[in-house]
Order: sequence, then structure tokens, then C-alpha cells
Amino acid sequence: MSPVPVTRTADELADHLEGVRAGGGAVGFVPTMGALHRGHAALVDAAAAVCDAVVVSVFVNPLQFAPGEDLDAYPRTLDADLALAADHGATVAFVPTVDAMYPEGDDRVAADGVRRVDPGPVALPLEGEGRPTHFAGVAEVVARLFVAVGPCHAFFGEKDFQQLQVVRHLVAALGLPVDVVGCPTVRDADGLALSSRNAYLTPAERAAAPVLHRTLCDGAEAVGRPGWDRATVEADMAAAIAAEPTGALEYVVVVDPTTLLPPEAPEPGDALRLLVACRFGRARLIDNVPALAG
Ligand code: PAJ
Repeated sequence: MSPVPVTRTADELADHLEGVRAGGGAVGFVPTMGALHRGHAALVDAAAAVCDAVVVSVFVNPLQFAPGEDLDAYPRTLDADLALAADHGATVAFVPTVDAMYPEGDDRVAADGVRRVDPGPVALPLEGEGRPTHFAGVAEVVARLFVAVGPCHAFFGEKDFQQLQVVRHLVAALGLPVDVVGCPTVRDADGLALSSRNAYLTPAERAAAPVLHRTLCDGAEAVGRPGWDRATVEADMAAAIAAEPTGALEYVVVVDPTTLLPPEAPEPGDALRLLVACRFGRARLIDNVPALAG
């Protein structure tokens, strides 16, 4: 199959989608930073199943990387990305330049903390503590991409659960007419969540990394038992991950899935989310699973 056509500006993309829009067709959108894998492909599949046209954006967004993070090292594989997108039913790729996305300059958030788009309170805990400008950068680019693409439905992975909640907040706060669809995390056979950053893992780190999903699953089982105690479950999960010497744990928590804060007096059957962030060498990995309180 030939790769999807590439558009570089919002005008070019709009021309490309004119026919679909004129016919009242639904435009689906899968925003990415490229280096596409089966996780991204599942989002394109989900979009193609319900939309008349599917736009995949590939844009490594400088605003969501802090100084010293992996902006320059981030894998860039555009030709393979365009082929994968086509194989999974994408219609067109949107691959803007940094200048096109940020004509006023791309260092605004990192430099002065000023931002136009507020990522909301759900951006503050967890990832927000260690990466305080990250979600402001995500919210900014997602809002701009939504304006450029004009989708009816936008598809995001649960892999980045806090990001999904930030996007839901953004859409609600701005009253955007976009249906945000969360899609389940795609994993390797040993449970490791697929991520473009897995490419940074050495063989030894790759062998160790499935401890994250294993531990989250154990934690999900533990919170499902009557009489469970959050601090104990979190401490047990931290100990299980600490037993893997190649990993450096940042957090592993049980939270309310809407606020991403500790659940207040959870009742049996209430939804919870267990999330982890852990560094393996150069790779900072995050993962999460749903759970029901026992
Ligand atoms: P990126 O990391 O490329 O991810 C693009 C989308 O793919 C996100 O919605 C992410 O949650 C989803 N995804 C990644 N790995 C997945 C997996 N294993 N299973 C299911 N979905 C997966 O997330 C971003 O880019 C950026 O922050 C972006 C939203 C594009 C804004 O710049």
C-alpha cells in the first residue's frame, strides 16, 4: 500500500478534507509524535472504524519537552510512519513544521511559564510534579492541532492516562465540539506497554521493564480485596519495583481516575487507577491500569 499523502499546513490539510466535509463526513484525528508502533496503529484502526476520513499528525512538539529532556534524541521515522498510517486506514498525514505550529516562537512555556491554554488541575499531580511544563505544552499543541484539523472524533491512548484526562479537561473547558475517545493500551506479550521510548532500553533494561505492568496488575488485584489499604498497596508495589535493580522508581500510586488524586473514602465497586513512572537507564517509562475498589 502506498504511504498516506503528507500535508504541511492547515490550509493544505483543509483542501485535502474539503470533499469529506462537504459530504457531511466525519473526520477522525490521531495526534502523534511519530515513531509509530502498534499502539498508535490501534488508534488509527479505531478511528478508521468510525470515521470517513482519518488524519494522523506527526509533530514532535518542543513545548512539551523540558530543557534536558529527549527532544533531540526523540526517534524520527517519518517514511515508516506514513506507510503504517496507510496500512491502518489513515487518509492523510499532517506534518507541520515547528514554525508553522508556533509562529511566535516555541520557547514560550519553558521560558516564562506563560501559556494560553490551561491544562487544568488534573495536570498538577504525578507527571505534573516532575515535569511542571509538560502538560501546558501538550494542551497548547493539542488545542492548536484541533483548530488545524477540525475533527469530530479524536483518539488518544490510555497508555498516557493523565494526558487523556488533560485533553478531556481541555475539550470541556473550551467547549470544543470534539468527541475524545480513549483507547486501551497495546502491550508486548510480556506486558510492557509499547512506547517510542522503549527504543532507548538496553537488553537488560528491556528484560526488567515488564515488572511495571506485573506490579500494577498485582496492585489492581490487591485494591479489589475487601479491607484494602491504599498506603499498604502502594508500599508493596514500590517494594516490588525496587527489587528490580535496573529501575529507578518515581511514583506508583492508587488514585481517583478523574482527579488523579488519592481517592476519598472509596466504596466497593468504585473505579480507581493505578499509575507508575520509573526510569530504566535513559528511558523514562510510564504505565497504568484500571481497577475496582474492593
Ligand atoms: P505519542 O507519544 O506519539 O502518542 C500518540 C498517541 O498514541 C497518544 O494518544 C498515546 O497515548 C498513544 N499511545 C502511545 N503508546 C500507546 C500504546 N502502547 N497503546 C495505546 N496507545 C498508545 O502522546 C503524544 O504523542 C503527544 O503528547 C501528543 C498527544 C501527540 C501531543 O504532542
